[in-house]
Amino acid sequence: MAETKHVEVDLDDIEKICEEFENREGAVVQVLQKVQEKYGYVPAEALELVGDVLEIPKSKMYGVLTFYSQFYQEPRGKFILKVCVGTACHVRGAGLLVDKVREELHIEPGENTEDMLFTLEPVACLGSCALAPMAMVSGTAYGKLSADKMVSLIRQLEEETVHEEETV
Ligand code: FES
Repeated sequence: MAETKHVEVDLDDIEKICEEFENREGAVVQVLQKVQEKYGYVPAEALELVGDVLEIPKSKMYGVLTFYSQFYQEPRGKFILKVCVGTACHVRGAGLLVDKVREELHIEPGENTEDMLFTLEPVACLGSCALAPMAMVSGTAYGKLSADKMVSLIRQLEEETVHEEETV
């Protein structure tokens, strides 16, 4: 399994995020969304700091974090490869897509690549069964995929990232 790299959490940043929301306790979900936007997940340290700043017990903070599936407790890749494994996609070869990603990127479902570029996330029906098998990456849907197309998509995302880094 690829090693997971955690981020450094800055108390000033957390305080700034908390200050944006006046309605203290009711704002926990929004605050955690902001934290996740900033770090890509909700680091344990950030969760604790938010609890301290908003004066909410740790157990309650953890309860909110785990109640909502939108929150992640571990770092995730820049690109989340959401490969649909719903029935229609399964019938049309979703398993081959998942296997291809595993083989190409050397990660298992739920894992990140070492460079933190990709996370493989098999998901339930994405709602476009006519395009099965399909995947979603960064809000863009890719339909009628094949293992080869999946590899091309991965290469394309890698190239875009290199290009982005070169132009910064
Ligand atoms: S089963 Fe994959 S989009 Fe519906």
